[in-house]
Amino acid sequence: MAETTTVCAASTNLGNGDRAALLQQAKEQAVILVVDDLDINRFLVARTLQQEQVRFLEAASGAEAIQILENEPVDLVILDQMMPGMDGLECCRRIKAGRHTELVPVLMVSSMNAVELEIAGIGAGADEYLHRPFHPDLLRARVRALLRHKMALDRLEESEGLLVMLAQSVEQRDNCTGQHCERLASLSVNLGASLGLSRQDLLSLQRGGYLHDVGKIAVPDAILFKPGALDDAEWKVMRNHTVIGEQMCKTMKCLRPVLPIIRSHHERWDGSGYSDGLRRHEIPLLARILQLSDIVDALTSARPYKRAFTTAEALEIMRSETARGWRDPELMAAFTAMLENSVAESLGHMSRLLSAS
Ligand SMILES: [Fe+2]
Repeated sequence: MAETTTVCAASTNLGNGDRAALLQQAKEQAVILVVDDLDINRFLVARTLQQEQVRFLEAASGAEAIQILENEPVDLVILDQMMPGMDGLECCRRIKAGRHTELVPVLMVSSMNAVELEIAGIGAGADEYLHRPFHPDLLRARVRALLRHKMALDRLEESEGLLVMLAQSVEQRDNCTGQHCERLASLSVNLGASLGLSRQDLLSLQRGGYLHDVGKIAVPDAILFKPGALDDAEWKVMRNHTVIGEQMCKTMKCLRPVLPIIRSHHERWDGSGYSDGLRRHEIPLLARILQLSDIVDALTSARPYKRAFTTAEALEIMRSETARGWRDPELMAAFTAMLENSVAESLGHMSRLLSAS
């Protein structure tokens, strides 16, 4: 793997501050991976882009490119379509199928000007396509546009990461809850999957598991950890965590599908819950799913004021709440079936292990 950089303004006259700024700049440079089996082609791309604030990595094959992408953060791949061994199409497919690389833009290039090849390139997941010999200004314009797009995606990812960190700090404030959010996300996704929900819904449930109580950041410790019962004014503050959480996440477009979960996860089937007193199917399905997972996890976890109930005991309590009109009866039945199946499965697994030993 070769590495080159176009920002090498090394100067013997640099002061400490300048040097620090230069190092910082180098850290923030976009990284472009140029993949081509021909040295001359990689050289020409790097020379055309030498005025850009970028750092180059080079790979002479698709396999080498995949290896680099596994170990290095890359902001853009400029990928030759025709290479011996793993060609550009296969390499592109692997990049777009990778969990950590699917959002890395790919600019595919080809020496042959054939529309079929271009269609195949786009079909393999390439974000842009260029024919050689390319006009230098066109290459620069495409690269800048793709890097801008990647930066926007990075910012979104960072913001979401910050919100999740914030949510986890809320969870850690109450050290009784342990890995509550993680378990909640997993239970909710399992229930959603058993109901045949879409991938987008499952992703929202996963995010909702972490973010549903993020608004508790605004609830003072004196209320959140009050050992006795809350008075009316304190309840008002506590209940407001759903609305505050929704406001916190509202600005992020990618979290829009999660907002109904955050706002409505304390509603009740008979309309006696909050934030809006919604009834029955007015309560968003994802919020109803998360609520059941939230309750079962709380009941089966130990607290200073109660022991951890067994799953069977927790389900019994939830069934009585359902009979009282608080929970969605059909969803409760599906949830019960899912939990009982998973208990039966793990018991079966355990007895198989015991009989094998
Ligand atoms: Fe909550």
